[in-house]
Amino acid sequence: MRKLFLFLVVLFLSFQQVTLAAIKEMTSTPDSVYLFSFATSEDDGRSGLRFAWSMDKENWFEVGRNYGYLRCDYSRWGSQKKMLNPYLKQSPAGEWVCTWKLNDRDGYGQATSKDLINWTSQKYPRTTSDFDGTRVKAVVAGEEQKGTINRVAWTLVDGLNKNYGWNQYRNSLHEERPVQDGERFAGLKPVNATVTVQPERAKAISDVLLGAFFEDINYSADGGLYAELIQNRDFEYDPSDREGDENWNSTHSWTLKGDKTTFTIATTDPIHANNPHYAVLNVERPGAALENTGFDGIALNVGEKYDFSIFARVPQGQSNKLQVRLVDGEGNICGETSLTVFSRQWKTYKAVITAKATADTRLEIIPQSAGELNLDMISLFPQHTFKGRKNGLRKDLAQVLADIHPRFIRFPGGCVAHGDGLKNIYQWKNTVGPLEARKAQRNLWGYHQSMGLGYFEYFQFCEDIGAEPLPVLAAGVPCQNSACHGDLRGGQQGGIPMSEMGAYIQDILDLIEWANGDAKKTKWGKVRAEAGHPKPFNLKYIGIGNEDLITDIFEERFTMIFNAIKEKYPEMIVVGTVGPFNEGTDYVEGWKLADKLGVPMVDEHYYQTPGWFLNNQDFYDKYDRSKKTEVYLGEYATHIPGRKANIETALTEALYLAALERNGDVVHMTSYAPLLAKEGHTQWNPDLIYFNNREVKPTTGYYVQKLYGQNAGNEYLPSKITLDNKDDKVQKRFASSIVRDSASGDVIVKLVNLLPVEVNTHVDLSGIGVIQPSAKRTVLTGKPADTPLPVEDTVEVAEKFDCQLPAYSFTVIRIKKANEK
Ligand code: AHR
Repeated sequence: MRKLFLFLVVLFLSFQQVTLAAIKEMTSTPDSVYLFSFATSEDDGRSGLRFAWSMDKENWFEVGRNYGYLRCDYSRWGSQKKMLNPYLKQSPAGEWVCTWKLNDRDGYGQATSKDLINWTSQKYPRTTSDFDGTRVKAVVAGEEQKGTINRVAWTLVDGLNKNYGWNQYRNSLHEERPVQDGERFAGLKPVNATVTVQPERAKAISDVLLGAFFEDINYSADGGLYAELIQNRDFEYDPSDREGDENWNSTHSWTLKGDKTTFTIATTDPIHANNPHYAVLNVERPGAALENTGFDGIALNVGEKYDFSIFARVPQGQSNKLQVRLVDGEGNICGETSLTVFSRQWKTYKAVITAKATADTRLEIIPQSAGELNLDMISLFPQHTFKGRKNGLRKDLAQVLADIHPRFIRFPGGCVAHGDGLKNIYQWKNTVGPLEARKAQRNLWGYHQSMGLGYFEYFQFCEDIGAEPLPVLAAGVPCQNSACHGDLRGGQQGGIPMSEMGAYIQDILDLIEWANGDAKKTKWGKVRAEAGHPKPFNLKYIGIGNEDLITDIFEERFTMIFNAIKEKYPEMIVVGTVGPFNEGTDYVEGWKLADKLGVPMVDEHYYQTPGWFLNNQDFYDKYDRSKKTEVYLGEYATHIPGRKANIETALTEALYLAALERNGDVVHMTSYAPLLAKEGHTQWNPDLIYFNNREVKPTTGYYVQKLYGQNAGNEYLPSKITLDNKDDKVQKRFASSIVRDSASGDVIVKLVNLLPVEVNTHVDLSGIGVIQPSAKRTVLTGKPADTPLPVEDTVEVAEKFDCQLPAYSFTVIRIKKANEK
């Protein structure tokens, strides 16, 4: 027996040794391997730097399927951003240096990394010896590639593999969408939730949390919010505004109908050097009409009055009467006037036209005598603009924006702020003063900016609706996706030359003086006063930079601008920039710079999937509260395939906004982007509000913004949320945010249910004070692809009350203090 036992012990131990050896054999990894780095030539390396490993330089194993670990940031999206023939080498200090060719003209791209995962900002040297080195061929996943081979520690490759796996996992979370809910939540029963407010943990939050992002994209300004009805009124459309459109020039939207008259464009003696082109009509025999088709027609409303104005002259001195008509498609005259041009010098002539019909029309100008006429700044404006402002904004569109109750408005972008190349940087001084002296320019979204809606109109609108202005100016560099437009290396990577930075910084300081300076004692304050606004605008915020590449070029210029503003206007809240995404090199480097300089606020941008928002509700809960820098979430939106805006996108935004309110102590401002889009002229989807000449069509997401804007608070009342279903995928579909607005004393309860079932919610408001028994409730609900409107009613509330949240819904309950009506 004893022998048998000993035998079994020996057998067990030897078996164990064999097994351990086998396990060791199975799990043992090499100390080092060969690492092949390459970029695929068929896409010019746009998919980025890729890796494969091998023990013998024969059999190569791809690291991450088609996965690029570093992508070129140089130049514009689409055909560019190439990584040609990358060369990877390790410096004696152990740092990896990747160098590639950009194209045949602009030199090289270069970035460094310690782990081949996190890369520094890219540099773009004209010349470098780091590109020189032998490339070899290797077959990776059946395809022959050319690249470089390095011997590396296995742990490095292991790190790359794990990073790939982690990203795959994250991406799978970010793909979560309600369309999969049938399967995901099969058999799910209605959920019971309890929301218990904890007033003792109340904290102050930003009182300007929800604002609006205005950019002249999608014809938001000319043909949109700016009420001017004549397109190309200044004859300044230029072929460079829009690549590949041969009709895009000074005569765009204008035609001469009839004969015995010629229509040409001249530049010899303009009204102003900033506005060089004007129309010349040579009338041999009267009868012909110069026509303008407006922006998709000129929409008239019966009985309304329209201000017609024109700069004109008769160089030969013979006066000429102009008949001015608005004519519909059938030839009916829907409004008309006449005026006589009598001066040899440029002079403005004005008349009022009353619409005889509600119709879509064109403008006709018909000279009544022979002779030469010069015409410019031909304008037709409804008298009914928002707040009746001259040169004002389209009433219905401006009202829809005002209804959001945005606490601030960002302007003029977005990419429009920093422009496509140095020559396209938005210059605020070109956008104030008399309209005929403003300098129009190419809009990088492929059209033209008249600058009629300029800085003055923008500040005036902010004041009219009680919003803080938040102008954003370029940080001395243009858009990181700039094309060069003949401005070699003045595109993305070019900064304003140092010799011109002094003047550029002065322009920024002048803007602050223009907004806030004394009307009598300061040069720019006087300019503001002359434009009709002697009182300062009380500018508090100024944004510097937009989604820029955080390169040395950027850092040097941003630092100069930041220091200059800080020195002259220490009270100004400067908003810096941390790139176009919620992670990555620009995000990391942008934050590092903000921390180093002590920038008061930075502008974060991210357009993300519903799954991203669902799984990142704690994005700012993890924010380091010891930091001095606050966050402006300046551009965000939920994007789904097809880029539609519906209740799915709206509800994920509502859910995320609940998290933003919760973090309103560090997130100071937020703005959905983009704001406006004209039907038939959109360069970007989704947008918050669509419109045409007659209708305004807010999206479902608009109502979410409006509900948050109209129901904002400056005090956050944390609450304990308990769901009877403990499944994480259920829990993250429910959100609540309770705020108090100290001005009214109202407490607002916001509840988001992104589940396909009802949530029976018990709300416990004990401790918030005595409240009125009835409250206003607004509910937005529908199936994920629906685009419903919010429904309002009155509900009974008490210290403790129950509230049933429909599947896929957003509910807002506004509760008044007991002593208020
Ligand atoms: O919102 C549209 C564009 O998105 C903005 O111009 C730019 O900042 C961002 O990339």
